[in-house]
Amino acid sequence: MTHLKGNQRAAYVQSMFGRIAHRYDLLNRLMTVGQDIRWRRELIRRLNLSPEALVIDTGAGTGDLALEIKRKHPQSVVVASDFTYEMVLVGKQRPGAHAVHWVIADAINLPFASGCADRVVSGFLLRNVPDVPRTLDEQYRCLRSGGQVGSIDTTPPRDNWLRPFLEFHLHTVIPFLGRLVAGDAEAYTYLPDSTEKFLTAEHLAAAFSAAGFKAVGFARRMFGTIGIHWGHKD
Ligand SMILES: C[S@@+](CC[C@H](N)C(=O)[O-])C[C@H]1O[C@@H](n2cnc3c(N)ncnc32)[C@H](O)[C@@H]1O
Repeated sequence: MTHLKGNQRAAYVQSMFGRIAHRYDLLNRLMTVGQDIRWRRELIRRLNLSPEALVIDTGAGTGDLALEIKRKHPQSVVVASDFTYEMVLVGKQRPGAHAVHWVIADAINLPFASGCADRVVSGFLLRNVPDVPRTLDEQYRCLRSGGQVGSIDTTPPRDNWLRPFLEFHLHTVIPFLGRLVAGDAEAYTYLPDSTEKFLTAEHLAAAFSAAGFKAVGFARRMFGTIGIHWGHKD
């Protein structure tokens, strides 16, 4: 389904996350052996949040990143936005969810004023959007001058001795878990496909720079299959 473009791709992604919303959190923990929690915490640390920061989480899903930011920085104002109702509904039932503002919104056309946010973050969003440059432009627009952007996403495995093992995990273990736990192998075939067809960590960093972000950097995690990116708006 990664060949789909524009609205067709967005509709496919939205309906897929709608189907798996009830099992999304559990599958994330299983697929990453709980490591996704550490990557989110690392991203939050790198954002150097001031206590009362206004943070927008785009593609927030069930709120893993947004809820963790609010937990670590109780005085911050955290907005969790996503275009899949089912994901947001699951998120709104989680502990601490009442302290976060939930918004249904498309990441490529955010309903927020320009320059309103101190931080704009995303977790595993960019791989799914039909237009990465436009999504990054929107994040840039919403940030105030001096604000920071941060993203975690999967990146294609590099060509080294680990690659066969990573491909086995991507193409065999993940669809198996998807079928077993969510009853939806197709959704968990999309994940490896979209990972392999996504931008490399270097290319994604270049896309952040092209959107205007400065001091763009990234770190790889999970044997190079996860990229944590950051940058700021001058
Ligand atoms: C892999 S989930 C990640 C959820 C959460 N950020 C996390 O870290 O677990 C991707 C989320 O991005 C959302 N998404 C994908 N494309 C989107 C778009 N164009 N606008 C808003 N949300 C989008 C999906 O609905 C889904 O909830």
